[in-house]
Amino acid sequence: NQEKYDLLKKKNQEALQGGGEARIASQHKKGKLTARERIHLLMDEGSFQEIDKFVMHRGKDFGIDNEHYLGDGVVTGYGNVNGRLTYVFSQDFTVFGGSLSETHAEKICKIMDMAMKNGAPVIGLNDSGGARIQEGVNSLGGYADIFYRNTLASGVVPQISGIMGPCAGGAVYSPAITDFILMVEDTSYMFVTGPNVVKTVTQENVTAEELGGASAHSVKSGVTHFSCANEMECINHIKQILSYVPQNCEDTAPVFPYEMKEDESRKVLDEVIPENPNHPYDMREVIEGTVDEGSFLEVHKNYADNIVVGFARIAGRSIGVVGNQPQSMAGVLDNDASVKAARFVRFCDSFNVPLLVLVDVPGFLPGTDQEWNGIITNGAKLLYAFSEATVPRITVITRKAYGGAYDVMNSKHIGADLNFAWPTAEIAVMGAKGAAEIIFKKEIAEADDKEAKLQEKVDEYTAKFANPYRAAHRGFIDEVIMPSETREKLIRGFKMLENKVDKLPRKKHGNIPL
Ligand code: COA
Repeated sequence: NQEKYDLLKKKNQEALQGGGEARIASQHKKGKLTARERIHLLMDEGSFQEIDKFVMHRGKDFGIDNEHYLGDGVVTGYGNVNGRLTYVFSQDFTVFGGSLSETHAEKICKIMDMAMKNGAPVIGLNDSGGARIQEGVNSLGGYADIFYRNTLASGVVPQISGIMGPCAGGAVYSPAITDFILMVEDTSYMFVTGPNVVKTVTQENVTAEELGGASAHSVKSGVTHFSCANEMECINHIKQILSYVPQNCEDTAPVFPYEMKEDESRKVLDEVIPENPNHPYDMREVIEGTVDEGSFLEVHKNYADNIVVGFARIAGRSIGVVGNQPQSMAGVLDNDASVKAARFVRFCDSFNVPLLVLVDVPGFLPGTDQEWNGIITNGAKLLYAFSEATVPRITVITRKAYGGAYDVMNSKHIGADLNFAWPTAEIAVMGAKGAAEIIFKKEIAEADDKEAKLQEKVDEYTAKFANPYRAAHRGFIDEVIMPSETREKLIRGFKMLENKVDKLPRKKHGNIPL
C-alpha cells in the first residue's frame, strides 16, 4: 500500500502549492497573503479542517482543459475561531486569478449549506478576478447559487466578508448580502464595473482605488463597514466581531465573566454635557464611560459620522450601541445616518444582541438634498428597524430629543423596554427658539422690543419643555438619572431584561421601506 499512501501525500503537497511558487511570490510581492496563510491567521492553531481539497474544474474551452490545479482556486473548510466553530472559504488568487468556476462555486455552496445545518458563522475571504471567463454561464450560475444561499442564510448564521483583492462585477453581490464587509487599504477594491468601462460609459477618468478602494467604500458609499490598514488587521477585526455575536439566530452571544462592583458609578459622565446646550461633545465619551473598559468596537466608523454604531459589552454581556453624535452636524439624522443605524439595529435584532440607544438629536436634516434623496423613506427605515426589534432595548436621552427624531430614536412608544433621561435632557417638539418664533409669532411682532419679547418667550418655553420631566410625568421616561449612575442602571436593566420574550404579529415578512 505504500505506493497508494505516497500518492495521497503527493496530492496533498500539490494542493498546498496552489498556482505554483512563482504566482505565490507575485502575491507576496503585492503585499498580499495567500489563501492558506489567511486561514492560518484566522483559525485557532491546528483546528482547520479542509474540505474538497482535490476538486478540479470541468471547463473544456479555450485550452483550460489542459490546466488543472487541485482545489480549483478556493480553499474551504471549518475550524475554530477563539474556540468556536466557524466555516471559511478563502479564494486563491494564484489559481486562475481566484476566478470562480462552477466547481469553485460548488465548494463554497457546500460549506454554506453545512454552516446553515450546523448553525455556525461563515467567513468569506475574497480575492478573485470574478467569473471564470472560460466557463461562461456555468460560472455565472455558480455565483447565483452563492447569492441565493447568502440570502437564505441571512439572519440565520452571521456572514462576514473580508475583501483582500479584486472583487468586481457580479462578485460584489455576495459580500453585499452578508452582514459585514471589511476591506484592506491599497490592495482591495470592489465595483460593479471597472475604470475602463466607467470611462467608456460616463467619460470619467478614475483609478480602481478611487472608484472602489477601501477608502471610497468606507467614507463615500458606506459599502464597507471597516477599512483595515493590512490583512492582519482585517482578520483580527473579523475575529473581534465574532466575539460579540452568537453562532446563529437561536443562540446568544458569549458572556464574559464579570463581577459587579459595589460602586459602578462613573463620575466623569457628570462632566460630559457642556453648559451651553448648543456646544458639541463626543458621544464616544459617553459610550466608553458606560460600557466595559476597552470593549467598544466601532462599526462603520468613517461613514455618516453624525451617528455612532458599534458593539460593546456591559458587565460581560454583548450589546449593540447606537448613539447620535453631537460632534458631527449636531447629531442630526440624515439619509446616510438613518440607513447606517437601521442596518446595524437589524443585525443586532437578527442575532439576539440587546440594544443600547444614546440620544442627543436635534431632528432630521432639512433641505432639498435630503428630501430628494428620500429622507422620508430612509428615516422610516430606522423607525421600522427599532419598532420591529424584539431584543432588550434601553434608551438614554443625554440631551436633545426633538420632534419626530424623539419618536424614532427607540422611544417608549415604539417598544423600548427602559427609557432613561439625564437631567440635561430636553424632550420637545423642537428647540426653544424655533418653537417661540412659531407659537408667539404675533406677540413678538407686536412687541416694542421684539428681541426682548423673543427672549422672554424662549425662556418660558425652555422652562416648560426643555427638560425631561414632562416626559417623566407621563411615564414616557421611566427614570431620570444622574449621568454617573448610567452604567449601574444599564447593568441592572439589561440583567432584568435577560429573558425578555416579545413576539411580532404572524406575517410572511414585513415590508421595510427600502
Ligand atoms: N477568468 C479566468 N482567469 C482569470 C480571470 C477570470 N475572470 N481573472 C484573472 N484570471 C487569470 C489571468 O488570466 C492570470 O492568469 P495567469 O496567472 O495564468 O497569467 C491570473 O488570473 C492573474 O491575473 P492577472 O490579470 O495577471 O492579475 P492582475 O493582478 O494584473 O489583474 C484583474 C487582476 C482581476 C484586474 C484582472 O485579472 C482582470 O481584469 N480579470 C478579469 C475581471 C473580469 O472582468 N471578470 C469577469 C467579470 S465578473
